[in-house]
Amino acid sequence: MQQVNLGMIGGGTVGSGVFHALQQNGDLMAARLGVKIAFRKIAVKAFDEPRPYLIPRALMTTDWQEVVNDPQIHVLIELVGGTGIARVMILAALAQGKTVVTANKALVSMHGPELFAAAAKQGANLYYEASVCGGIPIIKSLREGFVANQFSAIYGIVNGTCNYILTRMKLEGVDFAVVLADAQKQGYAETPPDLDIDGFDAQHKTGILASLAHGFWVDHHNIQTEGIRDVSKIDMQFAEKLGYTIKLLGIIKRVSPKSAIQVSVYPTLIPNAHVLASVNGVFNACFVRGDVVGDTLFYGRGAGKDATASAVLSDVADAALDLKNGGKVRVPPFVAHAKRGQVVPMDEIISRYYVRLSVVDRPGVLAKISAIFSAAKIGISSVIQPEGHEGESVPLILMLHDAPNAAMRKALAKIAKLPVIKSKPVMFRVETLD
Ligand code: NDP
Ligand code: HSE
Repeated sequence: MQQVNLGMIGGGTVGSGVFHALQQNGDLMAARLGVKIAFRKIAVKAFDEPRPYLIPRALMTTDWQEVVNDPQIHVLIELVGGTGIARVMILAALAQGKTVVTANKALVSMHGPELFAAAAKQGANLYYEASVCGGIPIIKSLREGFVANQFSAIYGIVNGTCNYILTRMKLEGVDFAVVLADAQKQGYAETPPDLDIDGFDAQHKTGILASLAHGFWVDHHNIQTEGIRDVSKIDMQFAEKLGYTIKLLGIIKRVSPKSAIQVSVYPTLIPNAHVLASVNGVFNACFVRGDVVGDTLFYGRGAGKDATASAVLSDVADAALDLKNGGKVRVPPFVAHAKRGQVVPMDEIISRYYVRLSVVDRPGVLAKISAIFSAAKIGISSVIQPEGHEGESVPLILMLHDAPNAAMRKALAKIAKLPVIKSKPVMFRVETLD
C-alpha cells in the first residue's frame, strides 16, 4: 500500500490531538483510503512543554525548517497559529509543492488569496476544514455537498469559547471572568482570548464561510464585528422574558442587489423556539439555506483537541487521495467564481433591535425617548420597565421594528446625550431567522 508521510508544525492542543487521533484510527483511515498515513516529523517550540497527549521525542524537532525541507514529507500540517511565522511556514511548504493542511482561521481569513495563489502556482492544495466550526465538516459541505446551491443565508454559532461563556452565564449565572478562565483551561480559547471575546475569531470564520459560499474573498475589514463584552446577565434575563436567547452569531445573508451580501458578527437575539437557540456550551452550529436543498443544520463541537483533530485528519485524507490519484479530483478548496461580489456596509443593513437604557424613573422620560425614535422613523414594538421608585435609575427595555443601522446609530447617539439617561445605551440586533 502507498504511504503518505506527514510533517506537522505545532504539537500543542490541536497538534497533539491530531497525533493521538492518527495513532488511534490510522489503520481505519488506511483501510478506507487505500493509503497509509504516517507521521515523519513534528516541530514544536520547546521539547518539554506540557501537551494534552504525549508525542514521542524521537519524532520531535525544534527546527520547523527541518520539517518543511524534508523531501520525504508529502503533506505539511500547520498548527502553530497566528498570522506571522505561520504564514512563512505555509508559503515555504507550498513553494516546495507540498500540500498544506491548516486550522489557522486568522491566517486564512487575512491572507487567503495569497495562500491559494501560492498553492495554485505549485499545483498543490491548501486545506482548512478545521479553521471553521471545529469538528463540523462545514467547509467540505459548502464546497462539495452543496455545490449545486446558491446560498441566501448562513447563520453560524462559530465560536466555541463565546458560546460556552454565554451558555454558562445564562444557565448557571456564573460570572464572565470565571467562565472564561474555565474555557482557557479546556483549551478552547485563543491566545490571547480577546480574539474570541471581541468577536475576531468569529469574524475570521464567518469571512471564510462567506468567501467560500459566495465566490469572492471577503476582506475582514468589511465584516461588522462586535464581541460579547457588553452582554450581561440582565440582558439575558430580559431577552428570555421577550422569548429570545442571545448568541454570538455570524450572519451571511443575501441582500439586494443580488450580488451583495451582509457579512457580520455580533451578539444577536434569536427566537427561543429556533433550533440555534438550543446550541449550548462549546458546541457550534451552522444553519445553511440553499436555493435547491432548502434549510440544513450542522451541529458539533466547535473547539478542543479531539474535535479539531477530526477535521484536520479529514483534510489529510483528501490530501492523501490527491497524492494517490496523482492529481486533484475534487472541487478546489477555494474558487473565485463571482463576477461581482460586494459586502454591503452595515449602515445600510436593515435590522430589528433590542435596546436597554438606564433611565431616571420620572414622568415624561419615555416620551422624550420615543420622540427621538419617531423622528428617526424607528417604530417601537414593545416596552418593559420594571417598577422602581420615582427619581431612581431603572432599566428601560425597548424592542424596535425594522430600521437601517445608520438611523439606529444616530438615534442612540442622541438618546445617550439626554440628561435622564444614566449609562451608555446597550443595543443588540434581533434576527428572526425566517
Ligand atoms: P497551542 O498554543 O496549543 O499550540 C501551538 C503549537 O505551536 C505548540 O505546540 C508550540 O510549541 C508550537 N509552536 C509555536 N511556535 C513555533 C515555532 N516557531 N516552531 C515550531 N513550533 C511552534 O495552539 P492550538 O493547538 O490551540 O491552536 C493551533 C491552531 O489551531 C491555531 O491556529 C488555532 O487558532 C487553531 N484552532 C484551535 C482550536 C482549539 O480548540 N484549540 C480549534 C480550531 C482551530 P510548544 O508546544 O513547544 O509550545
Ligand atoms: N477559540 C476558538 C473557539 C477555537 O473558541 O471557537 C476553535 O476555532
